[in-house]
Amino acid sequence: MSQSPSLAFEVTERPDRLAEAERNVILANPGFGQKFSDHMALAVWRKGEGWGDARITAYGPLQLEPSAAVLHYAQEIFEGMKAYKHADGSVWTFRPEANAARFARSAHRLALPAMEEEDFLESLRALVKTDLDWVPDSTTGEASLYLRPFMFASEAFLGVRPAAEVTYCLIASPAGSYFSGGLKPVSLWISEHYSRAGIGGTGAAKCGGNYAASLAAQIEAGEHGCDQSVFLDSVEQKYIEELGGMNVFLVYKDGRIVTPELTGSILEGVTRSSILELAKELDLTPEERRISLEEWRTGAESGEITEAFACGTAAVVTPVGRLVWTDGEVRTGPEGEGGEVATKIRESLLDIQTGRAEDTRGWLTRL
Ligand code: COI
Repeated sequence: MSQSPSLAFEVTERPDRLAEAERNVILANPGFGQKFSDHMALAVWRKGEGWGDARITAYGPLQLEPSAAVLHYAQEIFEGMKAYKHADGSVWTFRPEANAARFARSAHRLALPAMEEEDFLESLRALVKTDLDWVPDSTTGEASLYLRPFMFASEAFLGVRPAAEVTYCLIASPAGSYFSGGLKPVSLWISEHYSRAGIGGTGAAKCGGNYAASLAAQIEAGEHGCDQSVFLDSVEQKYIEELGGMNVFLVYKDGRIVTPELTGSILEGVTRSSILELAKELDLTPEERRISLEEWRTGAESGEITEAFACGTAAVVTPVGRLVWTDGEVRTGPEGEGGEVATKIRESLLDIQTGRAEDTRGWLTRL
């Protein structure tokens, strides 16, 4: 049962909001993660006191001591959600309780304090209400206001121990397609040198360190003309895990859609789990199990595997066109465009999120 929030985010509106005309130029072509709304939410946790100082204030630089623990030991976690403006002007977000639960699991793994689901939701409500004009019209396409909550060790202390002061922040950024090519299929490079996460590590947590660990492989991918890197399991270097910031699915010609099972080193994506549920009503058979690289390679070559796609809040559903390794490559899906199944799943998901289809599962929460 949902409870009342214990934090009240006090709003101080900035006097210098971006002018409507300038904001509309951004909303018409938002890109991803480049522009930010006028305000942000903040709260501070102190050991022995709990959460307090909750407020909505002008978006702007944070003041941190150079000795703040996060800058040294990366004690940090984050989430990603989107707010959609429906045809009647109401604003909704998708399964935020799942993000709140994952935020709590990530906090536990990174020895950060828990934030109650209701306080997490209250921060979303308070910021979106203050910056309502920043939510793009979602009635066509995929435009949304990307919400990025994060929490980090702000205590000024160089000893290695859980911080006694932690800052929570929520920022918002109008978003279109995550990839600059829009819906054009992306190419994936198989990282041979690097793993993203290992057994007992932080792979299942949404913490900045996992993304930092993916970047050298991302450079390698770029050097080989690819958009993203796909990581294999760190033990056998044989099974597919995920991309730098997205889960992955393979589509089989018999109607199965298969994604790597959660091993503890893979992020439990909210989009991933929603697709597993949606599959059934789209006459697809979802499967979660280990997938070897060899299976992908031979399946794509034989035509058994007809498509592949990446998924995540930012990426929604993005087709994968090519899988590339040191001495070869294989194509999945049609040249230059998404396959039929990836397109069908993407449309179904977006239709629910943007209010173009009925939300029969109670996945949407009004902000
Ligand atoms: C998201 O999909 O929200 C993420 O956090 C992943 C990142 C690649 C933007």
